[in-house]
Amino acid sequence: MTQFDDHELTAEVIHSFQATPDPRLKFILGEVVTSLHDLVRRTNLTFEEWERAIDFLTRTGQTCTPLRQEFILLSDVLGVSMLVDAVNHREREGATETTVLGPFYVGEHRLTPHGSDISQGIAGEPMFVRSRVTDLSGEPLAGAEIDVWHADDDGFYDSQKQSYETQGPSLRARFKTDADGRFSFRTILPCSYPIPTDGPVGELIAATKRHPMRPAHVHFLVKAQGFEPLVTHVFIEGDEYLGSDAVFGVKDELIAKVERRDEPVMPDGVPASGPWHLMAYEFQMRPGTGIVPQPMMAAAE
Ligand code: BEZ
Ligand code: FE
Repeated sequence: MTQFDDHELTAEVIHSFQATPDPRLKFILGEVVTSLHDLVRRTNLTFEEWERAIDFLTRTGQTCTPLRQEFILLSDVLGVSMLVDAVNHREREGATETTVLGPFYVGEHRLTPHGSDISQGIAGEPMFVRSRVTDLSGEPLAGAEIDVWHADDDGFYDSQKQSYETQGPSLRARFKTDADGRFSFRTILPCSYPIPTDGPVGELIAATKRHPMRPAHVHFLVKAQGFEPLVTHVFIEGDEYLGSDAVFGVKDELIAKVERRDEPVMPDGVPASGPWHLMAYEFQMRPGTGIVPQPMMAAAE
């Protein structure tokens, strides 16, 4: 056949993948074509709209650099990243919930002693983080590795700043749990912050009258031998953006009450220089294996 109606065309394109040796690739391509053709039919897409979409995607690609991944940001704001996370973590069995990795994981975090202050003198309200890693039955996991990272008081990650190369990491570290599965550190209270809005994804956010904010959170990547790697955040209760995260990453179980404390000493017995906040959170790991996420980008040069 050389001439097709709307639906025959879809079938013919899917048929063109017939000889694809990889069955999963063949299946996914067929599904992509089915969904795209459906979209064009359902919307009666005009030439102008099609050209605008091509221009948007072209500029999204052109915005990507070794330091910036605009396509992942697009996936994030469309909820695709969280959906991929969801379909890959359907069975939790009591394990801590997962959420997006985000673009500011740079890997190679420095192993840091318990109780260390990872803020490197950056201004902010002091916070003590007390945490523990266990299996699903609550047994402590000794020697688990935890990468931690979060934004500063102005909403920037260290890797977004030019000073990263000369001053090294801040608000970013790696810890190893002790025999009781515990680890702790000092830092500053994170604040809510906008995702990058100076590219095509920012245009989409503005055109749809959405806001670009993410609620305040600390990122955790927990790795323990024989357990699925856990990529998650702990959010701060009371943040005004918890109900409207720009990337749809909030889950109720990941919201922690972060209390203001006035005690003169912090939980590890070290004197506090004034009021401080306590974030206490435990991570439950699910047995299994999994891919340890790789950084999306290099740190700023
Ligand atoms: C973040 O948590 O830092 C983040 C996640 C997704 C998109 C942008 C930022
Ligand atoms: Fe973040």
